[in-house]
Amino acid sequence: MPIIFRRSRDVQVRQLFVGVLVGLGLFVFAWYYYALPSYTRVGYTPEQPVPFSHQLHVGRLGLDCTYCHQHVFQSPHATVPTAQVCMNCHNPRKAHVKGNSPLLALVRESYETGRPIAWKRVHKLPEYAYFNHAVHINKGISCVSCHGQVNEMPVVRHDQPLSMGWCLQCHNEPEKHLRPVEQVTNLTWQPQGNKSMLDIGFEIKRQLQVQPPMHCQGCHR
Ligand code: HEC
Ligand code: HEC
Ligand code: HEC
Ligand code: HEC
Ligand code: HEC
Repeated sequence: MPIIFRRSRDVQVRQLFVGVLVGLGLFVFAWYYYALPSYTRVGYTPEQPVPFSHQLHVGRLGLDCTYCHQHVFQSPHATVPTAQVCMNCHNPRKAHVKGNSPLLALVRESYETGRPIAWKRVHKLPEYAYFNHAVHINKGISCVSCHGQVNEMPVVRHDQPLSMGWCLQCHNEPEKHLRPVEQVTNLTWQPQGNKSMLDIGFEIKRQLQVQPPMHCQGCHR
C-alpha cells in the first residue's frame, strides 16, 4: 500500500475508517431491531384454513367477542374457539345454517375427530415479553386499541406494531385509550353527550387507579 500521509497520520486514517465501519454496522443492527418489526408485522394477513370472517360474524351477525374468545376477561390468553362453538350454528345434523357447506368441511372434521383446526397465528410476542389480556380489558382497554377494527375484517390482519415503543406509548398516557369496561368489546363505541373521550379516559384512570408499569421488570419477568 502506498503511503499517502505521514506514518502517524496513516494510522489515524485507518482507525477512522474502522470506526466508521463499526458505526455503520451498529446503525444497521439498531435499524433491524427497532424499525423492522413494525414494517414486517403490520399488515400481516395469513390465509386461514377455513375462510372465517369476523366482518360477517361480528359486524353483521353482532356476536360478542366473548362468544368465541371466552376467557379473555379472566385469563392472560385469549383462546381461539373449538369447532364445538361453530357447531352451535353450523351443525349439519340439526339443519343449521350452511350445515353442508364445503367451506365448513374442516370444521365438521375437527368436530368429529377432536383434532383442532390449524389456524395460523397472527399475533405473537417474543417469549421474553410478558403480556396479559385480562389485566388490560378489566381496566377499560378495548380490543380495538391493539387489534384494530376486527369487526370489519373478512380476514384478521395484524393492525398494530406490538413493539416495545408501542406498548410504552400507551403505558405513558393510558387516558387516551380508556373507556367504560362494559364497552371494551364494542369496537364501534363512541362517547355519548358532551364529554370527550379524553375526559372519560381521565375519569376512569382516577376511578380504577390505572397505573401501567413503565419499569423493565413489568414486562420482562
Ligand atoms: C364466532 C366466533 C368468533 C367471534 C364472535 C370473534 N372471533 Fe376472533 N377469532 C375467531 C376464530 C375462529 C379465530 C382464528 C381464525 C382467524 O384468525 O380468523 C379468531 C382470531 C382472532 C384474532 C387473531 C388471533 C391471532 O392469531 O393472533 C383476533 C385478534 C380476534 N379474533 C379478535 C376478535 C375480536 C376483537 C372479536 C370481537 C369484536 C372477535 N375476535 C370475535 C372466532 C371469533
Ligand atoms: C351464532 C351463529 C354462528 C356461529 C356460532 C358461527 N357461525 Fe359461521 N355463519 C353463521 C351465519 C348466519 C352465516 C351466514 C350464512 C349465509 O351466508 O347465509 C355463517 C357463515 C359462515 C361461513 C361461510 C359459509 C358459506 O358457505 O358461505 C363460514 C366459513 C363460517 N360461517 C365459519 C364459522 C366458524 C369457523 C365458526 C366457529 C369459529 C362459526 N362460523 C360460528 C352463523 C354462525
Ligand atoms: C393492550 C393490547 C391488547 C388488547 C386490549 C387486546 N389484545 Fe389480544 N393480543 C395482544 C397481544 C400483544 C397478543 C399476542 C400475545 C402473545 O403472543 O403472547 C394478542 C393476542 C390475541 C389473540 C391470539 C391468542 C393469544 O391469546 O395469544 C387473540 C384471539 C386476541 N388477542 C383477542 C383479543 C380480544 C378478543 C380482545 C378484546 C376482548 C383483545 N385481544 C384485546 C394485545 C391485546
Ligand atoms: C392501549 C393501551 C395499552 C397498550 C397498547 C398496552 N398496555 Fe399494558 N397496560 C395498560 C393498562 C391500562 C394497564 C393496567 C394498569 C393497572 O392495572 O393499573 C396495563 C398493564 C400492563 C401490565 C401489568 C400486568 C400485571 O399483571 O400487573 C403489563 C405486564 C403490560 N401492561 C404489558 C404490556 C405489553 C407487553 C404491551 C405491548 C405488547 C402492552 N402492555 C400494551 C395499557 C396498555
Ligand atoms: C410495557 C412493556 C415493556 C416494558 C416496561 C419494557 N419492555 Fe422491553 N420489550 C417489550 C416488548 C413487547 C418487546 C418485544 C418487542 C418486539 O418484539 O418488537 C421488548 C423488547 C425488548 C428488547 C429486545 C430488543 C427490542 O427492542 O426488540 C430489549 C433489549 C428490551 N425490551 C429491554 C427493555 C428494558 C431495558 C426496559 C426497561 C428500561 C424494558 N425493555 C421495558 C415490552 C416492554
